[in-house]
Amino acid sequence: MKVTFFGVGYVGLVQAAILADVGHHVVCVDVDQEKVDNLKKGIIPIYEPDLTPIVIENYQNGRLNFTTDAKSGVNHGEIQFIAVGTPPDEDGSADLQYVLAVAEMIATHMQGPKIIIDKSTVPVGTADKVSARVAEVLTSRGVSYAFNVVSNPEFLKEGSAVADCRRPDRIVVGTDSDTVADVLRELYAPFNRNHDRLIVMDIRSAELTKYAANCMLATKISFMNEIANLAERLGADIEAVRLGIGSDSRIGYQFIYPGCGYGGSCFPKDVQALIRTADAIGYQPEVLKSVEAVNYRQKEKLFAMISDHFSGELVGKTFALWGLSFKPNTDDMREAPSRVLMESLWAAGAKVQAYDPEAMQECQRIYGSRSDLALMETAEAALCDVDALVIVTEWQHFRAMDFDLIGDSMSEPVIFDGRNLYEPSRMRKHGITYYSIGRSMPLTGNSET
Ligand code: UDX
Repeated sequence: MKVTFFGVGYVGLVQAAILADVGHHVVCVDVDQEKVDNLKKGIIPIYEPDLTPIVIENYQNGRLNFTTDAKSGVNHGEIQFIAVGTPPDEDGSADLQYVLAVAEMIATHMQGPKIIIDKSTVPVGTADKVSARVAEVLTSRGVSYAFNVVSNPEFLKEGSAVADCRRPDRIVVGTDSDTVADVLRELYAPFNRNHDRLIVMDIRSAELTKYAANCMLATKISFMNEIANLAERLGADIEAVRLGIGSDSRIGYQFIYPGCGYGGSCFPKDVQALIRTADAIGYQPEVLKSVEAVNYRQKEKLFAMISDHFSGELVGKTFALWGLSFKPNTDDMREAPSRVLMESLWAAGAKVQAYDPEAMQECQRIYGSRSDLALMETAEAALCDVDALVIVTEWQHFRAMDFDLIGDSMSEPVIFDGRNLYEPSRMRKHGITYYSIGRSMPLTGNSET
């Protein structure tokens, strides 16, 4: 099938590449000429495992192309995906200007019927706005081509986007037309493994499904962080509690890892946007507001622990920081807990020696060069002459810690672990003072032998 994507951001690029890879003919339109030129050269603007070879191969075999020319893009596809950003407005609600601008572009250039799909995460009611904008432009052109607007939200996760896209749990399609549902069934047929992955519903329910899914996951995390904070004060171990509750299949093991708060481009933005949607219709979203408040507090937790440990005397201290990205396997630092921590440490007069396997360039881009930030070549180098180590992101190889190195690099070894990577008893054996999330504190080095 012939498909067009507007927006080669995260969602658009991954979904476009995978659709091309299963045999569809895909053209991606973006306003950013440099991005388009780079993609044609195989230079991918994001770090996402396995994506680059798929983009290169499908560009070379002609099934995937990139352009800034909206007109040719609109003419190419019977299906037009809108996959541009919906950044938060000042008040946290989703800004629809880019989505509506694409709707206008499609309506300006279309020469026949089109299926227009909202892939971006958009508030309930957006499909109606897209429809109205398209109809308006068609009327002003004096033409009346048939078109349908569909909501087809994306559920991929950064870091495993290619795998998620290839093997989706479900494909949610919001449409009021059986014919359109059949076209999408054909488009997504390669992804139906043992059973039909398509869940067809009305448009508003599909739009709400996306927010409900992300808000549910964010709720699980904030809930767990709250229980962790209680566990800490009650002398319990959140890791034992996690296993104890996760074994109940109604609860499950996923998304109940306590930590230093959720970040990324989706959870913070989508929780806020749904709160704004609820506010706008006069409904008080108590759970969602608490989810956000707990997360905000959790992102400040590492700093609070550090400050308590050093009795508020942080001026001139240096901290090794492992992990800048908001989670492993991405270079994305949007809403990352590392940012809240670094900014608090700097404000308190401390210095940071940071290491991250992928996000160093992004960190440099965000903060530029500053005397209180050193980006180190390796995790080990970051430990040189520091007062403590702080772990913010659970990159796999941080789990294999060289405890002797920790002992050698700090006169009184201290670790603040925002991801519970280590066994507290092991830390004690190595004489390390170990702070983690939701486990009784402080676990002072050599306090028990
Ligand atoms: C999320 C959704 O998972 C995905 O379905 C949606 O399409 C986009 O938003 P993503 O933002 O890529 O994906 O990351 P995810 O893996 O969900 O993690 C989000 C945040 O939650 C991270 O900061 C992570 O560290 C945190 N998290 C996750 C926890 O703190 N505990 C957990 O148990 C799980």
